[in-house]
Amino acid sequence: MDGNGRWAKDRNQPRHSGHRAGVISVRQSIKTAAERGVECLTLFAFSSENWSRPKEEVSGLMKLFVEALRRELDELHFNDVKLKFIGNLDLLSASLRGKIFEAEQRTEANTGLRLTIAMAYGGRWDIVEATKVLTRQVTEGSLQINDINDEIFAAELQMAGVPYPDLLIRTGGEQRISNFLLWGLAYAELWFTDVLWPEFDQSVFDEALSYYTSKQRRFGHTGDQVKAVGC
Ligand code: IPE
Ligand code: MG
Repeated sequence: MDGNGRWAKDRNQPRHSGHRAGVISVRQSIKTAAERGVECLTLFAFSSENWSRPKEEVSGLMKLFVEALRRELDELHFNDVKLKFIGNLDLLSASLRGKIFEAEQRTEANTGLRLTIAMAYGGRWDIVEATKVLTRQVTEGSLQINDINDEIFAAELQMAGVPYPDLLIRTGGEQRISNFLLWGLAYAELWFTDVLWPEFDQSVFDEALSYYTSKQRRFGHTGDQVKAVGC
């Protein structure tokens, strides 16, 4: 979700008002995803690298996350959204962690949209952490090196249990993955737009979804093979 700062700058406003406007886009996008039958939506809210921003911006963002969770949780729960947070959550404040815990607990049994929010998340960090877990098991003797495969590895990643993303949307004009779900994105369609995140509305979301539906997903097969099995 990129472009909040530039959106604010274009209006001669402080960066924080861009982040505030971004929350409205988040709210709208969750609604659109649910309406369009998207099963899983994962939002990259704050990256491992974002800690290097000015102290006031980081603390402003953290406050905004707490506020947004406080304000939105009832409605998300009412709409059957199941929330999950990924990332190095130990680095977050106790009050934010408390909100996160509450949100996950309350929505645990929900069966609607699976909404994952990545906070203090980095794709490389995720892979390194999974490697540590597996290495420990090998050292302890509960796992054999030759038994490690894609599935065993993925089960230790933060997104374990959530299907791999089919589509990545990045706003704000950059064409980069910026350390998002490095493992999971291996087969995702990538869609980039110059639209700044606060201006990402239903029609832009629909554009991205149309791009996705126009693609034939081959997963290494030929087009004829895909047609033959009808997927
Ligand atoms: C939002 O956009 C990303 C967050 C970390 C919340 P930016 O803050 O990166 O906006 P730009 O790139 O400066 O426009
Ligand atoms: Mg940016």
